[in-house]
Amino acid sequence: MPEATRILPFSDDSIAEAARLIGEGQPVAIATETVYGLAADAENAEAVARIYEAKGRPSFNPLIVHVPDLLAAQRIGDFSDDAKRLAEQHWPGPLTIVLPLKADARVASLVTAGLSTIALRVPAHPAMQALLRAVGRPLAAPSANASGSISPTRAEHVLKSLGGRIPLIVDAGRTERGLESTIVASTGGELRLLRRGPIEVPDAREETSGAIEAPGQLASHYAPSKPLRLNVTAPEPGEFLIGFESIGGSENLSATGDLVEAAARLFDLLHHADASAEPRIAAAPVPDSGLGAAINDRLRRAAAPR
Ligand code: TXA
Ligand code: MG
Repeated sequence: MPEATRILPFSDDSIAEAARLIGEGQPVAIATETVYGLAADAENAEAVARIYEAKGRPSFNPLIVHVPDLLAAQRIGDFSDDAKRLAEQHWPGPLTIVLPLKADARVASLVTAGLSTIALRVPAHPAMQALLRAVGRPLAAPSANASGSISPTRAEHVLKSLGGRIPLIVDAGRTERGLESTIVASTGGELRLLRRGPIEVPDAREETSGAIEAPGQLASHYAPSKPLRLNVTAPEPGEFLIGFESIGGSENLSATGDLVEAAARLFDLLHHADASAEPRIAAAPVPDSGLGAAINDRLRRAAAPR
């Protein structure tokens, strides 16, 4: 974790520096046309875990993935005709579209919190556009504020909220819209409005009760189909053990007890346990500090009777 956060004005040099840090797996704050985002390589699970670590999010909500254009988006999400029309009409711009995730997309499972759908956005802001093109990979980016605080529309807001927790803020002044993107879901059937925002989508059926404004509210959050037992130090026969540190063998969230690594592996291991031959799942105890709290929140939800 960096001890000092630098603020650099948007320029070729600051974008090159931001791209270098992102290549190292660090999250970097950068202006978009809506709010400042905290961006990391969406294909690097540990980099995505560091977003949650920096924000101090107590649970894993799925994140919006940013790409430079519709072509890049079509490599990740499966577009219906309606979704494509919407994208052509409003991208680049403050619209996010939730789509079925393509099977061959390389986005880390932590980005979607294990879901088979993905939220995609093509931002219009030249700073975020420049970063996307410099990195050459999709960027996961929630708003660049600590969990529970208001969304940042200036670099100083980011500094106040995340100073000392991230290495760099790319400052492009005040964001133009000051309001998070509109979110529309196109995951089968008609378009559904999940979050109101700067763009009006009259075709979308309003479903704001289904949106996830608070942590963990997503009704369709991934949960395994098998029963899950928590805080297990000695698994029973018929249990697939998701290990942690010294408890468990090869199927371990992190043999060294590294919570960033554990968060990065969580959804892959849950899917793996669900697909295994064992009829039940067990999970070793994970310390409840920092990212561990978010991991435990997810494990408790996965263990809750349905
Ligand atoms: O304007 C914005 O959208 C900003 C800038 C940085 O792009 N980003 C942003 O991200 O607001 P965030 O993480 O604060 O909001 C992401 C929201 C989640 O709370 C959830 O409502 C929705 O996107 N979301 C993401 N993936 C989803 C999925 N697969 N299904 C349904 N909703 C999803
Ligand atoms: Mg937010």
